[in-house]
Amino acid sequence: MRKKKIYLDCAATTPVDPAVLEAMLPYFIDIYGNAMSVHSFGQEALEAVDKARSQAAGFFGASPSEIIFTSGATESNNLAIKGILKSYYSKNESKKKKPHIITTAFEHHCVLDSCKIVAKDGLADVTYLPIKKDGTIDPKEVEKAIRPETVMISVMYVNNEIGTVQPIEKIGKLVRKINSTKEKDDFKIIFHTDATQAINYFDCNTDRLGVDLLSMSGHKIYGPKGVGILYVRKGTPIRKIQDGGDQEYKMRAGTHNVPGIVGLGKAIGLVEKNGKKDAKKIQILRDYLIEKVLKEISNSILNGSKTKRSPNNANFTFKDVEGEGLLLSLDMEGVACSTGSACSSGALSPSHVLLSIGLKPEQAHGSLRMTLGKHTTKREIDTAVEKLKVVIERLRKISGNVLDDYYSKK
Ligand SMILES: Cc1ncc(COP(=O)(O)O)c(C=O)c1O
Repeated sequence: MRKKKIYLDCAATTPVDPAVLEAMLPYFIDIYGNAMSVHSFGQEALEAVDKARSQAAGFFGASPSEIIFTSGATESNNLAIKGILKSYYSKNESKKKKPHIITTAFEHHCVLDSCKIVAKDGLADVTYLPIKKDGTIDPKEVEKAIRPETVMISVMYVNNEIGTVQPIEKIGKLVRKINSTKEKDDFKIIFHTDATQAINYFDCNTDRLGVDLLSMSGHKIYGPKGVGILYVRKGTPIRKIQDGGDQEYKMRAGTHNVPGIVGLGKAIGLVEKNGKKDAKKIQILRDYLIEKVLKEISNSILNGSKTKRSPNNANFTFKDVEGEGLLLSLDMEGVACSTGSACSSGALSPSHVLLSIGLKPEQAHGSLRMTLGKHTTKREIDTAVEKLKVVIERLRKISGNVLDDYYSKK
């Protein structure tokens, strides 16, 4: 029999909800038409895509034409940043002013790398906002960073490693205020948020947040992998970055991933229906986990604010413990966690997120992210902490012995 394992890595990905899978299944072998085909096979597929679009639009307080289906949040973030610059250059080339983008030092790599590449290509100057020790940014820093040539601000809603929540609504208000003072022909500041880790737990009404662009991904919300959304407020000057067909209001070329889109719509519907209840339950377990770890494991700290954080996230640093070793030992004990963002685990460089909140590289190396989900139980938390205690004690003994050997030979 397969050993029952404990999955505490829900920020990396979540299992597909059975109701989501059920909704998707007919679109693989029965209703398999191309949603752009004019015949009835295509029209049936298009109907399903439109239904999912309406479902998503309702969730974001948007209209259906503001929902652009993509392959996930990586693509949505690339489209947001590069698409805005493309539009800027198509309209403002004669002005020869280099546009300016503001983002934060602890965004997901798909935002940071998009910013890096446009800066390297000489297309934009980029400011990376500093992060406070508690893992949040100060809206005053945003205000300070704004220049006359600022065209875009991109701030993530919830950090994927430490789960801290950013003041998106406040920044949204600030951007609106500044835009209201601009001349009619001036390029307004576009406000984008990567809400990938926020969808399950926080208000994502785009009017309340005051965002023009919002990215999300299906597989973080018990939906399928390979599908996501970029919300684009009507009138936002953005150009497509991928050439081909006219799908998605000419904003994203490529055949629709119909089963994926259907699954994403269903997953969003489930968050709308059960999200609040699930969040409450998860937060109680998360608080229990944090309290237990800090009390029962010596020299452990919680990274990021205790209160301004996602209900499912706990991120710890353990003194004298190396994160990769901890992760592998825990995995052998049947507990799956992460040392940082999913995309960078496997790389041994310290997490840019933990460095951004002031941890030293050796502290960042000794960190562990435990992210809960709607299936996590108290029993699993108890078992995971017991395993964690044993593994940390063992690793500390080894690191202590190594240091003892080192000093005895000196
Ligand atoms: C905050 C954030 N943005 C973007 C992504 C990338 O999402 P996707 O896997 O859909 O490309 C992730 C996934 O780890 C994430 O956590």
